[in-house]
Amino acid sequence: MRVLTGIQASGKLHIGNYFGAMKPMVQLQEDHELFTFIANYHSLTSSKDAQTLRQYTLDAAVDYLSIGIDPNKTTFWVQSHVPQVLELYWILSKFTPMGLLERAHSYKDKVAKGIPASHALFSYPVLMAADILLFDVEKVPVGKDQVQHLEMTRDIAIKFNNEYGELFKLPEAMVNDEVATIPGIDGQKMSKSYGNAIDLFMDEKPLQKRCNKIISSSTPLGEPLEWEGCHIYNLAALFLDEEGKKELQARYKSGKEGYGHFKKYLKELIWEELAEAREKRAYYLEHLDEVQDILAMGAKRAGEIADAKMAKVREAIGLL
Ligand code: ADP
Ligand code: TRP
Repeated sequence: MRVLTGIQASGKLHIGNYFGAMKPMVQLQEDHELFTFIANYHSLTSSKDAQTLRQYTLDAAVDYLSIGIDPNKTTFWVQSHVPQVLELYWILSKFTPMGLLERAHSYKDKVAKGIPASHALFSYPVLMAADILLFDVEKVPVGKDQVQHLEMTRDIAIKFNNEYGELFKLPEAMVNDEVATIPGIDGQKMSKSYGNAIDLFMDEKPLQKRCNKIISSSTPLGEPLEWEGCHIYNLAALFLDEEGKKELQARYKSGKEGYGHFKKYLKELIWEELAEAREKRAYYLEHLDEVQDILAMGAKRAGEIADAKMAKVREAIGLL
């Protein structure tokens, strides 16, 4: 089954991104035909300057490769390296009623957050539809906030298919309800915009400092601690199997250790989990030319599929 997803590159990734998006994606490539791209045309809508967009795009490529995106299994590219998508975006615009876009939540949310209300931001869902429809995709793994964009993609595809023939496959959103919302150091949803994130790739000392900032209750050392509802426990549990969780619960109840011990333990769990990714990341950062080659290989593969599809689309609608 062909599965496609776009990654918004917007800075440092955190533990919430890792468990909520990256790890599930890496697992998908084992038994699906995975297409993944870094959505830098989309990021342009909120980008401040050229250097930052360039840097974020490359950082995302390095980070995803380090976490385990395997370019031999997954077609992995940068959106702007397959610009055929922009031609389809224009064509699909004809099949996009204004009212459809006017109903988009994400546009209103982004404008409310202070992102300038440009045409690009408004027509963002049409580009996303083009991303998906260009590749005859069946499933699109996304967060709940993106489900409306998938509905719009289907609406646009149906309108095209009705008027010009069944050219586009109707994709379905793949929302993983099992992935819990990962809490940040204050217990709220971890998010880079809330200042409560634990970044994925930190040095060991700053990582320990960050873990030390997790808010906990003030039970004195020597008394049993409550693991239920403890943010440190909830974060640590992400890294543990059932047995590991039971052991940690027993340590909380024993009264022999304080929150400081558990913060150290959490740091070790994070550090261990990312050991291999850290090594790969150090390698890729030293060999950015290899990263560029991998992206070029992905763009070539995606570009060939895009060319074949666009030839059919042009023919169907009467472009000479
Ligand atoms: P942020 O909230 O930090 O800006 P993004 O919105 O860029 O994060 O999220 C990128 C991906 O990571 C999305 O697929 C989103 O569902 C996932 N994600 C982000 N934060 C969390 C979290 N706290 N728990 C689970 N998944 C998350
Ligand atoms: N809009 C998505 C987000 O903000 C990113 C994205 C762009 C995407 N194009 C896509 C996701 C195509 C899935 C499929 O996260």
